[in-house]
Amino acid sequence: MIELRGISKTYAKSAVKAVDDLSLTVRDGEIFGFLGPNGAGKTTTIKMLTGVLRPDSGSAAVDGIDIAASPLEAKRRVGYVTDNPELFARLKAAEYLNFVGDVYGVDSGTRRDRVAEYAGLFGIRDALGGSIGSFSHGMKQKLIVTASLLPDPQNWVLDEPMVGLDPKAAFALKEVMRARAGAGKTVFFSTHVMEVAERLCDRLAIISKGRIVFVGTLAELKSSRGADGSLESLFLELVDDQGEGA
Ligand SMILES: Nc1ncnc2c1ncn2[C@@H]1O[C@H](COP(=O)(O)OP(=O)(O)O)[C@@H](O)[C@H]1O
Ligand SMILES: [Mg+2]
Repeated sequence: MIELRGISKTYAKSAVKAVDDLSLTVRDGEIFGFLGPNGAGKTTTIKMLTGVLRPDSGSAAVDGIDIAASPLEAKRRVGYVTDNPELFARLKAAEYLNFVGDVYGVDSGTRRDRVAEYAGLFGIRDALGGSIGSFSHGMKQKLIVTASLLPDPQNWVLDEPMVGLDPKAAFALKEVMRARAGAGKTVFFSTHVMEVAERLCDRLAIISKGRIVFVGTLAELKSSRGADGSLESLFLELVDDQGEGA
């Protein structure tokens, strides 16, 4: 479970809030989609809920553990797939996975099994002996996904995970997301691609200019707008309602 209470963030030298008094609860057992156009504040929000950035105000908690008060305990419960798969270029992929396994205290047998499972699923198993610097963007992303699952975290947070993945890997990723939610774990992902959210998430939030403009199910979104169009048209309508005056 992930809880954000009134978090705000303004970057230095910026006049506007990147995230503005945002509150959200993501429950166990659901796939939660975080939708919004580029620059809406998705990545900033995710960095605050994973403890990478500290909010100016408000609080974030994971499984009831406050991230500012108990950062290690909270981070231990989160697997994080960043939107930017820049990794230690000189490490071999296998070394990186071992490093992550050490940090999270995953024993060697479990480590081996999970690496075999996920690296196999995403088609990078034969590449693990190679150095990360030689990997394509997509392979780095698959490596980050594999690493994020190594500790079998209760909460899985993915920032624009479909970008750069080939169709086969994207399909595999969606299957893992469904399986984890089905097993009672929390899956939170951001996207600006509406079709992905439409098919995948149990609930969704739409963010525009740092503020939540909708939270609920797709059915609720459709009925609240009195329309039967695609999520994309509803999304554009909602984001449009925010106006250009800001
Ligand atoms: N490191 C940064 N320094 C200054 N401004 C930033 C930085 N990162 C993001 N921003 C600004 O904050 C706003 C939200 O960005 P971001 O959270 O990356 O949105 P999204 O992930 O939805 O595209 C944008 O206006 C963006 O330009
Ligand atoms: Mg982003």
